[in-house]
Amino acid sequence: MDWTELENSCRECTKCSIGSKKKNCVFGCGNQNADIMFIGEAPGQSEDEMGIPFVGKAGKHFDKFLTALGMDREEVYIANILKCRPDNNRDPLPEEQDNCIGYLREQVKLVRPKLIVCLGRISAMRLIKPDFKITKEHGIFFKKGNYTVCAVYHPAALLRDPSKNQDMYIDMKKISQFLNN
Ligand code: URA
Repeated sequence: MDWTELENSCRECTKCSIGSKKKNCVFGCGNQNADIMFIGEAPGQSEDEMGIPFVGKAGKHFDKFLTALGMDREEVYIANILKCRPDNNRDPLPEEQDNCIGYLREQVKLVRPKLIVCLGRISAMRLIKPDFKITKEHGIFFKKGNYTVCAVYHPAALLRDPSKNQDMYIDMKKISQFLNN
């Protein structure tokens, strides 16, 4: 499948009931040949309105970490496990994740990044292991098939608890070193 076919099939998807309530499908954005892919959980209200991942308050906070490491959105690829917004910002249901994960797998195959970074617990539980503990295991690199995957705190969690920002800087430095090796 190429990018156009994939994006079209994702936009036309009717597998979940949340699909009919969304304003926009939030497919993903950034460099389709990126070395690094960031994967969040699902679009929030701002993302649903704009059709772009991580453009709300949490996304603006995330951009600061990219800037601090000399990266910007044009260099990286950003997507979510779910492409449609769950109502009331609830966690994605397991069946919604099952319905949607195929689109993400195809995106990963097309980008072929050196590193996949899960943004937060939900993404890490889906992409690394079901019992992933974000407080203990953030910043650790795991081998998953052909890919290296790690997780960092979700930017919304950093806004709720700024004491975690320090860990986030340390993890992002490690990530930068990994990419520069
Ligand atoms: N939170 C996410 O996990 N993804 C977004 O795109 C926005 C907020």
